Order: sequence, then C-alpha cells, then structure tokens
Amino acid sequence: MADKKVMVIFGATGDLALKMIFPSLFFLDKEGHLEPELMILGVARARHDDASFADEVQKMMREKAGADYDEATWARFVQRLCYVDGDATQTSTYGKISERLKGFSIELFYLSTSPDFFGVIARNLRDAGLVQSQTRIAIEKPIGHDLASSQDIEAALAQAFPEERIHRLDHYLGKDTVQNLISLRFANTLFEPVWNKDNIEHVQITVAETVGVERRWSYYDSYGAMRDVVQNHMLQLLCLIAMEPPAALDADSVRTEKVKVLHSLRPIGAREVERETVRGQYRKGYTEQGAVPGYSEEAGGGNSDTETFVAIAAHIDNWRWAGVPFFLRTGKRMPARTTQIVVQFRPVPHSIFHRTENLPNRLIIRLQPQEEIALQIMNKTPELEAVRLKPVTLDLNLIEAFRTKRRRIAYERLIFDALKGSTFLFVRRDEVEAAWRWIDRIAAGWKERDMKCLPYSAGTWGPSSAFALTERHGFSWAE
Ligand code: BG6
Repeated sequence: MADKKVMVIFGATGDLALKMIFPSLFFLDKEGHLEPELMILGVARARHDDASFADEVQKMMREKAGADYDEATWARFVQRLCYVDGDATQTSTYGKISERLKGFSIELFYLSTSPDFFGVIARNLRDAGLVQSQTRIAIEKPIGHDLASSQDIEAALAQAFPEERIHRLDHYLGKDTVQNLISLRFANTLFEPVWNKDNIEHVQITVAETVGVERRWSYYDSYGAMRDVVQNHMLQLLCLIAMEPPAALDADSVRTEKVKVLHSLRPIGAREVERETVRGQYRKGYTEQGAVPGYSEEAGGGNSDTETFVAIAAHIDNWRWAGVPFFLRTGKRMPARTTQIVVQFRPVPHSIFHRTENLPNRLIIRLQPQEEIALQIMNKTPELEAVRLKPVTLDLNLIEAFRTKRRRIAYERLIFDALKGSTFLFVRRDEVEAAWRWIDRIAAGWKERDMKCLPYSAGTWGPSSAFALTERHGFSWAE
C-alpha cells in the first residue's frame, strides 16, 4: 500500500467547500487530527494552479477562521493542497486526476457539487480505475430531488462503492447539539420513562433562518424548503427525538431505529395536505438586516412558486407516539435564527391551583444559535396574599458548561469520521429513501391540489396559516 494518502474534493472552489470544508480541514490539521502525509486535491472547473488555488483557500480561511487563523498551521496546511482543473462530466478530467494521483492511496472522494453530478462522477471514478479497495466517497444532501432521482444516484454509487464506504452527509448530524440528543435521551434515566404519548402532548421542531436564499437562487428554486431542509435536517431531528433506544451505539443500530421512525410516519397525501401542511414564500420586508427583497426579486431570481417556508403537522403511528403531533416548521427570512425542539408535556391531570394558571412543563432543546437545554417548570411566586404560579426555567448552557473555546464547524466531525471510515454520523440508503417516500407524497399532494405558496413578509414567522395549523390541533408555536 502506498504511504502517500490523498483526499479529493470535487467542487473545490464552490461556496460550501471554501466556507466549510477547507476551514474544517484546517482546524483538524491545527488540532493534529490529519495524518501528516495526507494531501488534499481540489477539483473544479475554475482555472487555477496549485498556488493560486491555495491563495483562494487562504483568503476564505482568514475570513472564516478569524482569530483562530494562524500562520504556523497554514504553513503546514498549504503543503497539503494541490489542484486539478476540469469538468467533472468529462472523462479527460479523470485522466488528469489519475496522472496527479499516481502512487497515492486515495482515501476519500468528497463531492461538494450539485446532486446532479453525483451519479456521473461515481461512474467516471469507477471507469477511470480511481476507486481503490479502501477508497470512500462522501456526498452531500439532498441526494436527488425525489425518490426516483435518488435511486438513480444510488445505483451509480453502488456500482462503484460498497454501502459501508458511502458517507451520505447531513451536516446537522455533525453538530454536537444534535449528537447530544442521543446522550440526553439514553444516558439519563430521567427522560425515558416519560418519553411517550402518556406524558408528552406534542413536539415542535423549528429550523428558522433570518437569511434569504443568498446567492443560491437557481439551486434553491428547484428544491425549496421541503427538499432542502425538511427531507434531511428536520427528519433527522425528528428521528433522533422519536426513535426507540438503539441496541448499541453503533452506526447500524442507530440507523435501524431511525428508519423505523420514518416508516411509521403517517403518509400525508392529496387528501391531507391542505389540513396538515402550509407552504409559504417570503415577500419583501424588514429583518435585522434592514429592508430586504422578496424571494422572486433576489439576485438571479424570477417568478416562482418554490416554497421558502414549510409547516407540517406530522404523526408517528406507533405505540410510543400514537396521537402525539410533531409540528415541523422551517423558513427563510424569519425574525430570528433559531433551531429548537420543544417537547411539551401533558397538563397535570387535576390542578389544585384554581386561581392561577398551571402551564404544562416544557423541555426546550436549543441547538442554535444558543446551545441550551431548558426545562420549564411551574413555581410558586414569593407573595404573601395568594398562591400564584409562574413558569420558571432550569437552564443549562452547554457552551458555558463545557467552557467551549471554539464552536466546531459541523463538518469537522463529519470529515474526521469519514477519513477514519466511521459511518455512525452518516445516513444509510434506506433512511434517505424512506424520507423521500414521505416527502414525495406531500409534494405530489401539493401538485394535485394545486396548493400554491402563501406569501409572508420577510421578518415574520411565515403565513398566518402556519398558526392556524397548530391551533387546529389545540396548540400554538412556542416563540
Ligand atoms: C443547508 C441548506 O443544508 O442548511 C441551507 O441547504 C440552510 O439552505 C442550511 O441555510 C442551514 O444550516 P444551519 O447549520 O445554518 O442551520
């Protein structure tokens, strides 16, 4: 086996690679997690030689890493970088890559490209003989646009790589706060006994962003919030909250439990979409950034019915969760950036506090921007005249608790694991497919019912129908 190792990044000059992947590799290097002999080959269409490519990476790194950038790490890191320009759909590009990688052990191909290229790149890699017995491949969500296109991609991947060497990446799984959901649930005795329909009334999962589509209009327009965020990030959160205790903390045990949740999701089709889902698109408005344009007026934009907001009332039809709604909500140009899970417990069966409101307990897991776990409990106020209750929260700030010096980029953990060959934090093929099945049915329902996006002003919590959605079930969104 060759001792020179290499990781190859397709789409190396794209936004994602420059803003996330290279900075993650830089930090891994800084902390001594990259093997000394590992080279990193960037592949993209942009014309560069090794030096000008490294300059581009360095420029972004300085910006992204801020005070954590240091010249000593850069001096080491830059030695690893090399570049091949070429079109990933052309076989000649693979000839150039082969030439460059003679004598190397190829550890990982990382496809930071549009999903449209996953299949063709996998085929070309195989045909060019670039897939060695240890070589792995990492691909980004969304895998395809629907079940059929994801199966086409999977078929091409499967011809070149065995399942255990395919890393399907959902960057939410690289976040510590998301991984902590497993620890919170299964390393404590407190939660599991009450984690069911008898004690939990409903669950809310919100992924709200203040940003718009930024410079990704053309990508985003053919995906929309449903395929961009719900199909992957939100369903992963839902699975981790709802799954049964896995037999062990290994990739397959956990993924098997997640798939079961996806299979238990009640289908939402044409008959249910109007009642159980809301689609919205932002119009111009005001956010913390000031006046902002509407979706169709964004750079590169035009008339479109692509949703930038989705709300869904989901149900998991199994013994643990029968009758417990899981409300999902995601949107761009919301008033605040917040990713949180609110677990609302049932009210007390009988309140002896007649003159004062007795609110149900809530466990709030904030994933970002704060990393917090808060338990809202009812307490007596210190008054003489009357017994009054007030909800007060037990707050755990995870950043302070662990005195985190630097918040890792989610990709650091994922790249670290992919280079080591662990699939624990990656999504299995059947998970992706089960998620698409559920999403495709909703999308088909929208089409059949001709359910257009409802407008909402940028800087608001989406169309008013999103509030009506929870209220129909007797609840309201926790802000
Ligand atoms: C990405 C989506 O996967 O996740 C983006 O493509 C979205 O549209 C982003 O903005 C949100 O990620 P995070 O980590 O900022 O919550």
